Formats: sequence, structure tokens, C-alpha cells
Amino acid sequence: MRSEMEKDILKVLITEEELQERIGQLGEALYEKFQGKRPLFLGVLKGSFVFMADLVRACQLKSDVEFIAVSSYENATVSSGRVKINHDLQQDITGRDLVIVEDILDSGNTLAFLKDYFLTKGAASITIVTLLDKPSRRTKAITADLSGFEVPDEFVVGYGLDYCQEYRNVPYIGVLKPEVYTG
Ligand code: IMP
Ligand code: MG
Repeated sequence: MRSEMEKDILKVLITEEELQERIGQLGEALYEKFQGKRPLFLGVLKGSFVFMADLVRACQLKSDVEFIAVSSYENATVSSGRVKINHDLQQDITGRDLVIVEDILDSGNTLAFLKDYFLTKGAASITIVTLLDKPSRRTKAITADLSGFEVPDEFVVGYGLDYCQEYRNVPYIGVLKPEVYTG
């Protein structure tokens, strides 16, 4: 496929096929866990939108879909530590079994904040699903219930993940060439 972004990618870390195979397994695990229930899949925008689309289709349960948009990165590759809600929940989550869908668990700031926030909003249970996990960078005591892939401490893009709002439509997970973000 022709791609304008390809020249900025240093290497492919996770291929499209590997993504789909693993997401099938995650969907299956969620199916087992929530059989007979009606979970609310809650995607953390923007990064999770591609993963969310594949994950809900990999889990053929009756469920609902919701989004929240937050930001912690101000167009940089390191977290500012602060989490801001840019677009809030549009429905009552009291008593709901939430499946939080994240693109990547890095410092843990975002998910630590969101977990507290959803509990104060009355969620009955919270299951955290992250496509990628960078445990080496964690500063908050938070773990995912389900994680797709562990990744090394490198800045990754694609499959929803961006650098300065770009590369979200790259179909695989790749590592960006350092010169792209160091100028
Ligand atoms: P955390 O709050 O530090 O755990 O990270 C939260 C957010 O930072 C993630 O949801 C991503 O949107 C973004 N992020 C962290 N690491 C990367 C990366 O390697 N590439 C792109 N975005 C990242
Ligand atoms: Mg994100």
C-alpha cells in the first residue's frame, strides 16, 4: 500500500496480523468474563479509537459503547503528569460494568485518574484493557486486567497512536525515527 507516513517509521514492532490475532484473544477473554452481563466498553480518546473498533467486534456480547476524551501529553513524547477531560461521558454509568479501553499504559497517570473518576461516578466494576503496556515507565501503581502486548521504552505510533496528531492511520504499531521528534 502507498503510504506518506512510511518513511518516518524506523521499524515495525507489531504487524497488522499480530494485532488481529491478539485482539481476537482479548475479545474471547472478555466474552468469557462478561457472559450474561452487559458491559459498557469505554474508549479513552483519541488513541483508542482503532483498537476499540476491533475489540468490540471481537467480543460478540450485547454491550454498550461510550467514550471519554482526555489529554495528558501536550504534543510531546513525555507525559506532563496532568490529565484533562476534553469530552466527558454522555451517559450515566451508575452500576455499570465498565471495560476501559486504552491504547497504551505508560506512566499510568491517565488510567489512575480515570479509575478514580469512574468509581466516583458509581461504576459497579472496572476492567482495564490496554492494547500496549510499557511497564518500565510506570510511576502510578496501576496494572491492566488484560493487555495485548508489552512494548519496550520506545515511542510508538500507529493503530490509533499518534505523534503530534499524526500517524494514527498507520495500520501497524511502529517505532518513529528519532529525528522525526527531535527535529
Ligand atoms: P500515561 O498517562 O502516561 O499512562 O499515558 C497516557 C497516554 O499517553 C496514552 O493513552 C497515549 O495516548 C500516550 N502515550 C504514551 N506513550 C505513548 C507512545 O509511545 N506513543 C504514543 N502515545 C503514547
Ligand atoms: Mg490514549
